[in-house]
Amino acid sequence: MINLNRECAYPFLRLGIIGGGQLGRMMASQAKQMGFYVAVLDPTPNSPAGHFADVEIVGDFYDPQKLQELVHASEVVTYDIEHIDAVFLKKISAASGFRIHPAPELLEIIQDKWRQKEIFAQHGIPVPRFQQVDEVDFAACQRFGFPVVQKLRFGGYDGRGVKILSTPDDLVTALPGNSMLEEYVALEKELAVMVARSTHGEMKCYAVVEMQFAAPGNILDILVAPARISESLQRRAQEMAVACVEALQGVGVFGVELFLSQQGQLLVNEIAPRPHNSGHYTIEACATSQFEQHLRAIAGLPLGSTQLLSPAVMLNLLGGPNQSGPPVVEGLAELLAIPGLSFHWYGKAETRPLRKMGHVTILNENIDIALQHARRVKEILKIRA
Ligand SMILES: Nc1ncnc2c1ncn2[C@@H]1O[C@H](COP(=O)(O)OP(=O)(O)OP(=O)(O)O)[C@@H](O)[C@H]1O
Ligand SMILES: [Mg+2]
Repeated sequence: MINLNRECAYPFLRLGIIGGGQLGRMMASQAKQMGFYVAVLDPTPNSPAGHFADVEIVGDFYDPQKLQELVHASEVVTYDIEHIDAVFLKKISAASGFRIHPAPELLEIIQDKWRQKEIFAQHGIPVPRFQQVDEVDFAACQRFGFPVVQKLRFGGYDGRGVKILSTPDDLVTALPGNSMLEEYVALEKELAVMVARSTHGEMKCYAVVEMQFAAPGNILDILVAPARISESLQRRAQEMAVACVEALQGVGVFGVELFLSQQGQLLVNEIAPRPHNSGHYTIEACATSQFEQHLRAIAGLPLGSTQLLSPAVMLNLLGGPNQSGPPVVEGLAELLAIPGLSFHWYGKAETRPLRKMGHVTILNENIDIALQHARRVKEILKIRA
């Protein structure tokens, strides 16, 4: 018999996850390991997270009935994607006191890139110069000079919704929709920091990591942990990441993306209110994975150590170009022969060009050797339809 009134019902906590993608899958798998009951809502039956769930609810992230069903099946609800109905979640959590972490009010802020940046700026956290604009026209862009970055306020991910306007001629290619403009930062490196904050306000911060992106699509390609930057920059990046989560009073784990400019300046780009692609390395490389940490944080449990046990490189395994359909993996045996490599496969029914199908993490005391192995993975592993 489950007692819903207990402050912390662990180990019988019923967890609801909105979103059944790879993040939900790794969260659900960890939740099962920790003895939670897991319900997942996703539009696709047999979703990656659904494989680990006790209950799969098939429905849209904006379907009030399905959201309500999930909330009623759970003692605490979380999500693996930001593009869900925050307004409805706010209403049901206010009306019935359901625990939804991170809070729907926070999610609403994060869904709007402009409001998110406003809050960071108000808290004195360094961000690139930015401005909300009604029209992406020459006059607006001129306030920044070219190149300038246009960002859609709502709905962007994996670089969709971001447009670098290099010259006034590019204005014709500007994206339609509610936008903000942002100063173009000449980047030395892109960095990320995972931060956890529990329902009790306990906070823990992971190592600073380095993200390298692959064009096209701006999908994380190679992740290097720890980042190859000075200790003082690492400390500063961690302080800034912690300040972001404090500013939002967030509960859960958060992926804070930062820029290191060519002038050596650290700026916050954005925050993800959930486990993050840049935190997958924590599964093998840290004392507590980002997924376990997230569950601890939202369930009101003590947070775990974020100690980095080994340097690591993480590589996303993306669907091959022009390949759509049930996936076939080539080169797996050779891949698994690489020392220190862990293979993760998300169980998606179909591959598509550049779709995230899995990832590998390579542990090695020598980061250059781990990077060599990662380059080898890219040569040998192919995901075809
Ligand atoms: N002000 C900027 N100056 C230079 N490059 C930028 C700037 N803003 C964004 N970029 C580039 O565009 C990428 C995508 O931007 P951003 O992270 O804001 O969008 P996103 O679609 O939410 O990304 P994702 O979902 O991949 O995290 C960044 O990782 C960076 O490479
Ligand atoms: Mg980003």
